[in-house]
Amino acid sequence: MALIVLAADKGAPGVTTAATALGAVWPRPVLLAECDPAGGDLAYRLPSADGGVLNPTRGLLTLGATARRGLTVQQIHEHSQKIVGGLDVLTGLTHGEQAAGLTWLWGPLGRALASIPRADVLADCGRLGAHPEINDLMTEAELVVLFARASLDHVAHLRERLGVLAKGPQIGVVVIADPRQYRSSIDEVRRIVTATGREVAFVGGLAHDPKGAELLRGQWGGRLDRSLLIRTARELAARLATHVRTPERTP
Ligand SMILES: Nc1ncnc2c1ncn2[C@@H]1O[C@H](COP(=O)(O)OP(=O)(O)OP(=O)(O)O)[C@@H](O)[C@H]1O
Ligand SMILES: [Mg+2]
Repeated sequence: MALIVLAADKGAPGVTTAATALGAVWPRPVLLAECDPAGGDLAYRLPSADGGVLNPTRGLLTLGATARRGLTVQQIHEHSQKIVGGLDVLTGLTHGEQAAGLTWLWGPLGRALASIPRADVLADCGRLGAHPEINDLMTEAELVVLFARASLDHVAHLRERLGVLAKGPQIGVVVIADPRQYRSSIDEVRRIVTATGREVAFVGGLAHDPKGAELLRGQWGGRLDRSLLIRTARELAARLATHVRTPERTP
């Protein structure tokens, strides 16, 4: 089904948190893949489905070690783990230096993730710029979503990033916005994005919700479900899912 890349320019706006929240409420089967060349966070943040800890050494690194002669969808499943709530996760590299030996991986990984038959993939690619080889994965995506906070510096970097992003997949922008100025922040960023002249499929929002972000790192339950983070993630997930093909429309 569809490969959706989630990324940012500078400043850690909350891509991994957004990826986790979206994965938790995604309307179709989904795999959350940590493809950030700087290293993953989920193995340290989230419990496994049985309440224990995830194995930080089973994931992208072990997949890379077995994928030199080709990468199949079956291999991706073998190196994925289930986290709390039953969400499938391919955990990322344990530190950024590992990416130096894996520059060849991103293209084959992108092609394999895009060809998983019965699940969409949310690929957290982290901050763009430092590892240009991640473009080989991004070109395989159907949609690239750029996250930014509504602050001046974040929006300025977003604007620059839109200017240098390779043509190809459709682009969406998500503003992680203070709930008190939610609509006005998104509208303001939309105006700035429109002025760049770059074609952007949508400018959406996700709540800046420190309590929700904190709950997302623990045992998931009713309080998290009612948080602004998850409520806005649900709206965003529905929106993103409609921007990529549905199984019925796949030839
Ligand atoms: N929607 C949000 N509301 C409030 N706090 C958030 C939100 N998203 C993330 N945070 C907080 O911001 C910090 C960074 O979040 P996160 O790791 O998701 O960012 P990131 O963009 O993935 O960063 P990096 O590029 O370092 O991987 C964390 O402390 C997290 O709790
Ligand atoms: Mg991250």
